[in-house]
Amino acid sequence: MKKIIIVAGARPNFMKIAPIVRALERSGLFEYRIVHTGQHYDENMSRVFFDELGIPSPHCNLQIGSGSQAVQTAAIMVRFEEVCLQERPDLVVVVGDVNSTIACGLVAKKLGIRLAHVEAGLRSYDRTMPEEINRIATDAIADCFFTTEPDGTENLLREGHDPGAVHFVGHVMIDTLLYQRDRLGPETVSRAALSLKRRIVGTFACMTLHRPANVDSAAALGALLDAVAVLAGIAPVLFPCHPRTKKNIEAFGLMPRFTRDDGVSPVGPGIRLLDPLSYNDFLYLWKDAALVLTDSGGLQEETTALKIPCVTLRDTTERPVTQEIGSNVVVGGDREKILHHGRRALAGTWKESAIPALWDGKAGERIVAILDGLMNGRTTPV
Ligand code: UD1
Repeated sequence: MKKIIIVAGARPNFMKIAPIVRALERSGLFEYRIVHTGQHYDENMSRVFFDELGIPSPHCNLQIGSGSQAVQTAAIMVRFEEVCLQERPDLVVVVGDVNSTIACGLVAKKLGIRLAHVEAGLRSYDRTMPEEINRIATDAIADCFFTTEPDGTENLLREGHDPGAVHFVGHVMIDTLLYQRDRLGPETVSRAALSLKRRIVGTFACMTLHRPANVDSAAALGALLDAVAVLAGIAPVLFPCHPRTKKNIEAFGLMPRFTRDDGVSPVGPGIRLLDPLSYNDFLYLWKDAALVLTDSGGLQEETTALKIPCVTLRDTTERPVTQEIGSNVVVGGDREKILHHGRRALAGTWKESAIPALWDGKAGERIVAILDGLMNGRTTPV
């Protein structure tokens, strides 16, 4: 039986590997190993996702932790090479665009191991983003590409890749979204999240912020919070906060901008700073929000799948289908646009959008069927 290593390292990777692992397990077609690089390591940035998403414990955790771009990427490479030499996989699967993606991709290819990239072909055309470099570099060396939207396929073909190696399969992140949404309830959501939601008065918004361009300078972060504060005067804004952002909020003296939640009182206007939430707890909250404000890549897509208005606090998006379909507007730090679109969403006047092709919960199965063809020479109907 052919052996696959599937790599995950940072929070957004975990929801992408879950449906692939489920499909691998169901098919029984491959031997597989899950390698966690340890890029994210806090309990609420890592283990809680494995538990909630039902991902088996990683066979191996490289325990890399934080570091500069070079330190982190290099450390992952050194340790992942040892794992590959020991395991001798026939294929390495990497997902998304984090440092773990390119680090493990490089190692695999230099050892002559086939490489598949899930969520391939996305381009923001902003090379100041580490993720854009990771995407371009991973796609330059991968053998097999799984794309989430037509734009991803077009980019790869324009870059000269063999059309036979590019597979439009839909989106594994949306597989996870639909799967977990159907299982939300008192048994899968924490009491704290259930209580918070019950206490919210009227419509509300959710926000996430963690991109260095938005959170590493006091001026940029302060200006964004000023704009969001205006919207938070209309409706509460729930803000589960990435550790990087939290550290900066404290360092820049921005804590007074937030309204405290005492755990019992009604939740009215104001920005509520929360610790990072588990997948289910956050989904339980944002799926009913009137507005999501974010600089995340994945959340632009997740909101599109559930038709929730999304205002993206970045200058570019590598996920253009979310804009084309009408659920997302990319506004950067433009205060007037943030307020205009935010007010529109909170007033309920945002026009209903559609759902992109193949975002139907079956991408993981399609991927495994294609891998079966590629590795085992079989054709499995999906
Ligand atoms: C990484 C990804 C980004 C993704 C994001 C999701 C890269 C280049 N960036 O960014 O694409 O959207 O994950 O979260 O791979 N930290 C903790 N605990 C953790 C992890 C991180 O406290 O478990 C703090 C540390 O201070 C660390 C900082 O967050 O230095 C940044 O972590 P890092 O993994 O380098 O990048 P992210 O900003 O999380």
